[in-house]
Amino acid sequence: MAGTCIIGLQWGDEAKGKLVDLLAKEHDVVVRYQGGANAGHTVVIGDEKYKLSLIPSGILTPGVKSVVTGGVVLDPKTILEEIDGLTSRAVAVEERLLISDRTHVIFPWHMAEDAVMDANPAGGESIGTTQRGIGPCYQDKVGRSYAIRLGDLYRDDFRQRIESIADVKTRTLAGLNGRADPITFDGAAIHQEYQAYAARLKPLVCDTTAYLLDAVEDDKRILFEGAQGALLDIDHGTFPFVTSSNSSGVGVSGGSGVPGRWITKVLGVAKAYSTRVGGGPFPTELDNEIGQHIRDLGNEYGTVTNRPRRCGWFDALAVRYTARLSGVDALAVMLLDVLSELPQIKICTAYEIDGKRVTNFPSHVDDLRKAVPVLETLPGWQQDITGVRRMKDLPTGARAYLDRLSELVGRPIEIVSVGPDREQTILE
Ligand code: IMP
Repeated sequence: MAGTCIIGLQWGDEAKGKLVDLLAKEHDVVVRYQGGANAGHTVVIGDEKYKLSLIPSGILTPGVKSVVTGGVVLDPKTILEEIDGLTSRAVAVEERLLISDRTHVIFPWHMAEDAVMDANPAGGESIGTTQRGIGPCYQDKVGRSYAIRLGDLYRDDFRQRIESIADVKTRTLAGLNGRADPITFDGAAIHQEYQAYAARLKPLVCDTTAYLLDAVEDDKRILFEGAQGALLDIDHGTFPFVTSSNSSGVGVSGGSGVPGRWITKVLGVAKAYSTRVGGGPFPTELDNEIGQHIRDLGNEYGTVTNRPRRCGWFDALAVRYTARLSGVDALAVMLLDVLSELPQIKICTAYEIDGKRVTNFPSHVDDLRKAVPVLETLPGWQQDITGVRRMKDLPTGARAYLDRLSELVGRPIEIVSVGPDREQTILE
C-alpha cells in the first residue's frame, strides 16, 4: 500500500490542487481530511479551469475515488453547488465521491459567529478569516453540546435538535454582538433547508473510516490532500493567526482515521516565494512594487474570497520548520515562473530577533512580529521558463536558486511547476 501526502508548507495557496490532480492517476483514492470551504483549489486542464473547494482535486480523474473524511467541516450547500457545477461539465461525481457521516456540518450560526468574532477580536487584531464558519464549527465539534454531524441529519431527532440549537445560538449571538437588532435563527426553516441538502447528499454518505481501513488492507494507493498550509496549523502554526484544524502533516491520521504507519511518502509543497492572506506576522513580506509584481504575475488573489494575497520572499527558515514538522521526504516548488523577470531574488535564511540570530521558527507570535529576515541575494535568470519540461533545461540561475532552496530546507526537490497547466510541470 502506498500512502502519499501532499502538504502545504507555507500559509496555504501553494497550488496543491494542481499536484493532486497530477498525481491522482497513480492512486486509487484521494482523501480530503481537514478544513472546509475555506480552501480553494484551481485545476487547469487544457482550456478548462475547475475551481474546487470541498471536493478533492482527484475528482477529475476517472477511476479514482474521492473521499471527504470526518476531519472536514462540511458546508452542504457549497458541496452541492460544486457537485452540480462538475456534473454539468460531465464529471461523474456520483460515481467518484464519498462523504463521511462524521463530518461536522456548518450551519448559518457558524457563519454569523465567524463574522462577529473576527470583527471583535479580544486582542484588537482580526485573524482575517475566510468567513466560512470554519472556526465556530470546529469550536462546536470540540465543545460537543451543539455540534451536528452529517450522520445526525438522517436521525429521527434531527428536527428537535436543530430547533433547540437554533434557540441557544440566537441567544449566544445576541450576547456576543450586543446588537439592538439581534440575528435570530429559525430552527424550523433551517431544518427544512438542511433536510433537503441531506436528501440530495444521501447516496454519497458513508462511514469513510471503515472504507479507508478496508482500502489500506486491500493495498489500495491513497493520496492525502492537505488543505491550507502548515504555518496555519492550529497547534503548530502562527497562532492565533491560523485556521482551526491541523493543516500540517500531523493532521493526516486524525482527520482521516488512517494510522500514520500507512503513510509512505510526504511531498511538501511550497511556492518559489511566500504568500499570506489574512492577518498575522509575515517576516519576508514585500509591501512594495516587487510584492505587487509577484501578485500580478502569480495572480495572487484568493480563490475563495478574492482578497489580494500578501507576497514576499521565500522563507527558508519557516519552510525548513514545516518540512520537518510534516515529515516531508521531498519538495515540490510551485510557480517558479512568476520570478522569471526579477533581476535579483532573495531568500530568508534566518531571523534577527532582539539582536540575536535565530534559526528555529518562533513559537510565539510576538517573537515572529519582531523577526527581521536575514536575506541572501541570488541573481535572477530573466528568461521565460514556462516551456521547460526537464530540470536540466532550466536556466543556470533558476537551477542555482532551486539548489539553494533545497539546501536550506534540507530536502530534495522532486517537482517544479512553471505554469498553471498540468503540462507545465518538471518531473525529471
Ligand atoms: P479560517 O480558516 O476561515 O478560519 O481563516 C483563518 C486564517 O486562515 C485566515 O488568515 C485565512 O485567510 C487563512 N486561510 C484559511 N484557509 C485558507 C486557504 O485555503 N488558503 C490560504 N489561507 C487560508
